[in-house]
Amino acid sequence: MNKMTIRDIDGQGKRVLVRVDFNVPFDKETGRILDDSRLRAALPTIQYLREHGARVVLCSHLGRPKGKVVEELRMSRVGVGDRLSELLGAPVHTLYHVIGPKAVEATQALKPGEVILLENVRFFPEEEANDPKMSHALAELADIYVDDAFGTAHRAHASTVGIASYLPAVAGFLMEKEIDYLDKALTNPARPFAAIIGGAKISTKIGVLRNLLSRIDCLIVGGGMASTLLKANGVDVGESLVEDDQLDTARDLMEQADEKGIPLFLPEDVVVADRIAEDALSEVASVDDIPQDMRIVDVGPDTVASFREAVEDCMTVIWNGPLGVAEYPAFAKGSLGMAEALASLNATTIVGGGETVALIHDAGLEDKFTHVSTGGGASLEYLEGKTLPGVAALMDKK
Ligand code: 3PG
Repeated sequence: MNKMTIRDIDGQGKRVLVRVDFNVPFDKETGRILDDSRLRAALPTIQYLREHGARVVLCSHLGRPKGKVVEELRMSRVGVGDRLSELLGAPVHTLYHVIGPKAVEATQALKPGEVILLENVRFFPEEEANDPKMSHALAELADIYVDDAFGTAHRAHASTVGIASYLPAVAGFLMEKEIDYLDKALTNPARPFAAIIGGAKISTKIGVLRNLLSRIDCLIVGGGMASTLLKANGVDVGESLVEDDQLDTARDLMEQADEKGIPLFLPEDVVVADRIAEDALSEVASVDDIPQDMRIVDVGPDTVASFREAVEDCMTVIWNGPLGVAEYPAFAKGSLGMAEALASLNATTIVGGGETVALIHDAGLEDKFTHVSTGGGASLEYLEGKTLPGVAALMDKK
């Protein structure tokens, strides 16, 4: 990465505001954190700063409160600071404030190595508006700004972009790691290089597919979006979700892959169901024989076998998006089969996207992947070839 990082600064005795992405999934009823991966992922940066005598001020959003105070989205209600404190093995004081005199006072009282967590930064409408007043107020809380929130780097907000105009701005270790893995895969991958792209809609992934086509050696498509490609190929997909306005785009994509000589793997057999529900009636069908009143909910066993074979000799694989409606365990088997196949490869394996990462996490396979991204939208935009504003705002390496 050509941006300065926390290795390039001297944090000793300084107040360092670290933008983290602690937007963790939590139980709406109880507020209990369901997955603390994003907290764990920020630990190396926080520990490094503490060990180097910095006074650490953590800042994050939680959910989408849309510029208002929403009690359910308070950091304390979800216990973000408490869980972080357990993981750090050190106290983390959660402030009631984000900006203003009380917040400034709290940062001034911090001693080297101490950590505080600000309240949800999205309680202020000025955050998402990237209002300079908000950036300036945040900058008053620190001497140095560190961005470790890769998951939010695609948002140009006051705490991810604006603040960098007021303070020396560098990347944290998580940001650096995420960019380095994705960048290496896009620019200098060990080959053969395959991409597995799933998810519901081709319209949300077309940018990624187009950008990847000029870089990969093999493309595998599953999930709801495969229905649109299959229909564009003349397959009768019954009641499956199809984006009819994307059929030309789908044809165009398949033509491009063909022209470039990139093998494109689509489902050969699928799991079809009468509705999307855990107790739905389902069966495996060939794509040439999908019952009129059924819809595709997963890839079938032959498809998993052919996808496995396609990646067998690959040295780099990127995966984004499940191969079926994986939030229902009954329709997650194809994605799980793929996850197990990738987990056993002796290759660089990179996974991104909220649902795909959750699946890998629930299957306990996280450690078997080279890199599991903490970013959903951010990793997708990076794979599209877009510049992430949160990264662009940081100081270039000299
Ligand atoms: C995420 O969960 O993808 C990030 O925290 C960004 O959240 P947002 O989509 O609400 O900006």
